[in-house]
Formats: sequence, structure tokens, C-alpha cells
Amino acid sequence: NNHIAIAIDGPAAAGKSTVAKIVAHKLSYIYIDTGAMYRALTYKVLQEDVTLEDECAVGHVLHNTSIELVHGDQDQKILLDGRDVSMEIRGEQVTNHVSIVAKHRNVREEMVNRQRQLAKQRRVVMDGRDIGTHVIPDAEVKIFLIASVQERAERRHKENTVKGFPSNLEKLKEDIRKRDKIDSEREVSPLVKATDAIEIDTTSLSIEEVANEILQVVYDIQ
Ligand code: C5P
Repeated sequence: NNHIAIAIDGPAAAGKSTVAKIVAHKLSYIYIDTGAMYRALTYKVLQEDVTLEDECAVGHVLHNTSIELVHGDQDQKILLDGRDVSMEIRGEQVTNHVSIVAKHRNVREEMVNRQRQLAKQRRVVMDGRDIGTHVIPDAEVKIFLIASVQERAERRHKENTVKGFPSNLEKLKEDIRKRDKIDSEREVSPLVKATDAIEIDTTSLSIEEVANEILQVVYDIQ
């Protein structure tokens, strides 16, 4: 059986996408970054000056928006209405507002529909907050990645510094805490570990160690 779905959930900056990409590559599966979909919508909502809290207005924007995940040979591109916004959606502005947009019930229903379409044929590694609990509740492998706030902020801080971006560790910690709080406390499909998910604490593990642990779980069920 090599047609399985792998769901990877967890709090902000726990290394989900890095690990998911490696696992997908090793298995020749498709990687689907659901956070990028919420980020792309947030970017558009900010650009169009739509009130983030206005569920109806935000839902309307999404309804008229195409979001595509294009798989290149190196990295994935995010196309928003046909335009590459892969860089823009990683900015601080989007990062610090995305959780408000992702709270809305109508937004989540539409995103989940789109994500289920993408996962239909299996052979996917999908990462997010509600993949194992809601998007693919029958995923064959469910992983919940966690790490301390300190560790997650330090990793992000290092990434920023390497890229030459301005970065403040305390601010990063504060932002991560805030985002986790909104994501965990929202009414619709909040961030929570699925009862049948395997929890991996990545605080003292390398990226390769985490990826190998997940691959081992995959090989074990096959
Ligand atoms: O994973 P990433 O940090 O890119 O996700 C950005 C935000 O998108 C999360 O903080 C959360 O608010 C939202 N999100 C979500 N459900 C998902 C994926 C992301 O609510 N499945």
C-alpha cells in the first residue's frame, strides 16, 4: 500500500514545512502547505483593505480568489490569482494577521473543501493545524510536531539572521505565543492534537532526525 496521506500538524514555527518537504521528497509524494493558502488569502485581504474581522467580506474575497500551489524542482510556488506571492506571504505583516483571517468559519469551510480535493488521490504530505483532526481525519499517518517557544523563536531568529532580515528574538517569541493562542482558542477546528496522532517533540532533534522518525512510521505501516 503506497497510497497514503500523511498529516503533519502543530504550532507555529515547529518545523512542519521543512520536515514535510523532506518526507514528501523521499516518498515522491506531493507536499501541500495549507498555511500558505491562509497566508495568500490574508495577503489579498490586506492589499484590498478589507476588514480582517469581517467574516462576510473576507469570505467573499476568498470566493473570488484562486490559490495554486505549484511544484517546482527546487521549491514550491504560491500563485494568488496567477501571480507568484511566495515571498510576500512570509512577511511579518501577513504572519501577524493570518490567524485572524483563519478564524472565520466560512473561510475554513472553503479552504478545507479545496484541501480535500488536493488530498483526494492520496500520496500527499499535508501540513497545517487541523489536517489530522479535520481535513483528512482518515489519514493513515498523523504527526503532531511540538517544540518549546524558546526553541521555535530561536530557529526563526537564526533563519532571519542568515537571510539578512531584521529580527528580534523577544518579539518573535511574543508573536509565536500570540498566534498559537488564537489558533488554539478559535471556535472552528482549533489547533489540537488528534487523539490518534503521534507527538514528536523536536526541541532537541535535528531536521533529519524528525524526518527519519516520520519515515519510519510510514515504513512500519506498509
Ligand atoms: O503554517 P503557517 O505558519 O504558514 O500557517 C499560518 C497560519 O494559517 C496559522 O497560524 C493558522 O492561523 C492558519 N492555518 C490554519 N489551518 C491550517 C494551516 C494554517 O488555521 N491548516
